[in-house]
Amino acid sequence: MAAPIKVGVLGATGRTGETIVDGLVGSETKYVRDLSSLFTYPPFTKHIPSIYLNPNTTTQEVTVLTRPSSIDNDEVKALKARGLRTVALDLATGTKAEFLQALEGLDVLVSAVSYKALADQQRLLEAIKEAGIKRFVPCFWGTPAPRGEQHLLDVKFDVLDAAQAIDIPYTVINVGWWTQMPDIPGDGNVPNALSDVRDIGKYAAKIIADPRTLNKFVLSYSEVFTFNQIYDLMDEVSVESIRTPLAEAKEKLKKDPTDFSAQWALMFNQYLDSWGLRGHNTPQYAKYLGYLDVQDLYPEGVGSKPLRTLFQEVLEGKPSGIRAMK
Ligand SMILES: NC(=O)c1ccc[n+]([C@@H]2O[C@H](COP(=O)([O-])OP(=O)(O)OC[C@H]3O[C@@H](n4cnc5c(N)ncnc54)[C@H](OP(=O)(O)O)[C@@H]3O)[C@@H](O)[C@H]2O)c1
Repeated sequence: MAAPIKVGVLGATGRTGETIVDGLVGSETKYVRDLSSLFTYPPFTKHIPSIYLNPNTTTQEVTVLTRPSSIDNDEVKALKARGLRTVALDLATGTKAEFLQALEGLDVLVSAVSYKALADQQRLLEAIKEAGIKRFVPCFWGTPAPRGEQHLLDVKFDVLDAAQAIDIPYTVINVGWWTQMPDIPGDGNVPNALSDVRDIGKYAAKIIADPRTLNKFVLSYSEVFTFNQIYDLMDEVSVESIRTPLAEAKEKLKKDPTDFSAQWALMFNQYLDSWGLRGHNTPQYAKYLGYLDVQDLYPEGVGSKPLRTLFQEVLEGKPSGIRAMK
């Protein structure tokens, strides 16, 4: 049996982190310690913590790195109850010694931290290098574009640049636009690569174990639609017209450049501009930028949820898989 890949997930309680943890735990790749052979041997079973003997919980090689302030949250408790190891780490305040302790023994570190913590990933890089992490997945998880198009993406590129400067092995994973956020920028006729947020982890689990993706960019997505096609499909599935116009967000920043909501409005608008009007979030454009295409890498797929199914489930009152940002 191949040795398990020991993965740490930073931001595991977030919207992206949650799907990554689910993807790793549900993966056929050995991220999870396999103690099954011990289960049947009574002299051993009495020494095994009961959590490992419950077939409904996961024996962990997946480590959740969470801020000390979050360690008692219900989300972290739920991850612990699933058998995942939790380690405290705050990118903003941690020391290098604390970072090294937190990263000890990990093979892969996946980061999916919130917008405010993106730049602070740079504080972790020396420890990643010294800890011998074999693959760092910095927080990208958005749409592909060149530098200078989206401030948010440029902050992510700055982290990657700093990681490359000290020769940290990496994989960049962008996921296109979430199917759960169908805004229409411009005329809505530009194709976009889409991921149901719940499918992101299924692909991520494959990508981070794949030698072909080391030191590469990967565009991970399930379907490609224009946003007019998306709204047409919503109309078709819901049997009513729900098209709404897009508000012009840039105006907010002109009023107060220091206002957080205005900054957010700018970044969000640039995002829409990049993929909505300029077509950056297409598999073709990502290939032009040098990305590997997850559909070429894994033509067998991961059983991802088609957009049509998502809409049907939402109409049936089932959870959409999206929750509020932290
Ligand atoms: N493609 C799309 O359509 C799309 C949509 C939304 C987001 N995204 C991207 O996905 C990425 C993650 O965003 P998200 O919305 O999933 O994140 P989120 O839910 O807002 O937060 C993720 C986690 O970051 C952790 N965190 C915050 N500050 C931290 C710090 N100082 N140190 C360590 N951890 C910290 C928190 O975990 P703890 O409380 O456990 O510490 C939090 O749960 C971003 O890059 C964003 O651009 C893409």
